Amino acid sequence: MPGVGPPGTPPSVVVHFVDRGTGGTGMAGEAGPTGDVIGAGTVAVVTGGASGIGRALCRQLGVEGSTVVVADLDGAGAVAVADEVEAAGGEAVGVGVDVADATSVAALAEGVVARFGHVELVVNNAGVSTFNLLQDQTLDDWHWVIDVDLWGVVHGVQAFLPVLRAQGTAAHIVNTASMGGVMGGVPFIGPYVAAKQAVVGLSETLAVELAMQGSPIGVSVLCPGSTDTAILESERARPAGRGSEARTADAEGMRLAIEGTFTGPTGQTAELVAERTLRAVRERRFWIFPQPAERPVVEARVAGMLEAFTDWT
Ligand SMILES: NC(=O)c1ccc[n+]([C@@H]2O[C@H](COP(=O)([O-])OP(=O)(O)OC[C@H]3O[C@@H](n4cnc5c(N)ncnc54)[C@H](O)[C@@H]3O)[C@@H](O)[C@H]2O)c1
Repeated sequence: MPGVGPPGTPPSVVVHFVDRGTGGTGMAGEAGPTGDVIGAGTVAVVTGGASGIGRALCRQLGVEGSTVVVADLDGAGAVAVADEVEAAGGEAVGVGVDVADATSVAALAEGVVARFGHVELVVNNAGVSTFNLLQDQTLDDWHWVIDVDLWGVVHGVQAFLPVLRAQGTAAHIVNTASMGGVMGGVPFIGPYVAAKQAVVGLSETLAVELAMQGSPIGVSVLCPGSTDTAILESERARPAGRGSEARTADAEGMRLAIEGTFTGPTGQTAELVAERTLRAVRERRFWIFPQPAERPVVEARVAGMLEAFTDWT
């Protein structure tokens, strides 16, 4: 089977499944009789799997026994993470995908079904951000961030929901939003916040609609706070056609300040986020807030909203 191109090769719209001799061409197994969506006999797809939170999820899913499809714009990085999963005794394939491209994500879903016959867990996790005040964000900045952070999730749901519904067995979709998706007024990352709040909204609607139908498909929205990953170097994944970021000195200062929160008492590791995410999926929780200490920022926003419900009479 064809392999992914060398590092730096633009991701192909055609998804390349690298045959690692792990799953053959047959089924990876049936979903567990107890409706497990993680573990032996299940298949998990993680976008943005080559780095950070996605990588940690892939590694932990492999240890748990899931067959892992590591999908990323960085196809070589995805293969490298699949290697790590296998080195730890798991089963994985690494594939190149551009979540901003509906055709590419549809090809991913088709490739997974063709290769494994089923999928139990889909994590729409790939994400990027720009750093500037809104007055300095260009339309290219907006389009890129919305394309990846919002359309990427839409594409994942569009491509995989029909597969999961046709299976009729237990399955789960995790959409990665952010604390930025639930807190109010975060400067310098306007397009990111807009996209992540939309991801929260679409996830809530999806969860309600599936519950209305008595579907065995669960939904979670993952809202991490500061996590030690490469998200602040998102520019590396920016398509040439979307120009480049003209970050102001103030915005760069903010980016570095955010970076400083990734470690120490305010930060958390990607491994911890992954561990809590998988636990939440098993417990069929909708909201995933891996950092309990972040609760006050949500309380502050909601308190402000509730206060605004004045009596107009
Ligand atoms: N790190 C944090 O503090 C933090 C906080 C809240 C939410 N998040 C979210 O977590 C998710 C994972 O980010 P991370 O922090 O692990 O960052 P990361 O940069 O380490 O990983 C993001 C991955 O997404 C991939 N990617 C980018 N564009 C893509 C595209 N078009 N198609 C496919 N893959 C693409 C990148 O190649 C990279 O491997 C993102 O949605 C991010 O917004 C991160």
